[in-house]
Amino acid sequence: MKILVVHGPNLNLLGSREPGVYGAATLDLINSSLSALGGELGCTLSFFQSNHEGELVECIHGAVGEVDAIIINPAGLTHTSVVLRDALLATGLRFVEVHLSNIHAREEFRRVSLLADAAVGVICGFGPSSYLLGLRALAAEQ
Ligand code: DQA
Repeated sequence: MKILVVHGPNLNLLGSREPGVYGAATLDLINSSLSALGGELGCTLSFFQSNHEGELVECIHGAVGEVDAIIINPAGLTHTSVVLRDALLATGLRFVEVHLSNIHAREEFRRVSLLADAAVGVICGFGPSSYLLGLRALAAEQ
C-alpha cells in the first residue's frame, strides 16, 4: 500500500513550536518513525509539508493514481479550509485526519474540522503516535 503523508502549515517548526502543546519531536523524527513502521507494515510512504494552501492542494491533486491513501495533518487549515476539503474530495482518495494535540480540549475554534466528516477516521491527542495510529489503521484495511 502506498500512502502520502501531508503536513500543513507551521508543522515544519515542530520541535521548537509550542513544545508544551506539540511536544519535542521534530517533523523529520515523525517522518522517520512513520517510514520505519511503514516498512514493518508493508507500506511505502511519501511525505510533503507546506505552509501554503495552494501547494497542499497541488500535492493532493498529484496523488491521484500514485498512492492508495493519505494521512493528513491539515494543521490550522483544519478549521478554515473549504479548499483543502474540496481537494481531498476531488481525488476520491481515502484519508485519515490526524492531529498531535487533542483539538477538542483546546480553544473552541479548534473543535471544528472542515475535513473530519469526509475522512475515514480522525485521530488526535496522541502526539506523534496519532500519525502512527493512522498508519496502522490504514494498513489494517489491506
Ligand atoms: C494541529 C492542531 C491545529 O489546531 C493547529 O492549528 C496545528 C496543529 C495538531 O496537530 O495538533 O497547527 O493540527
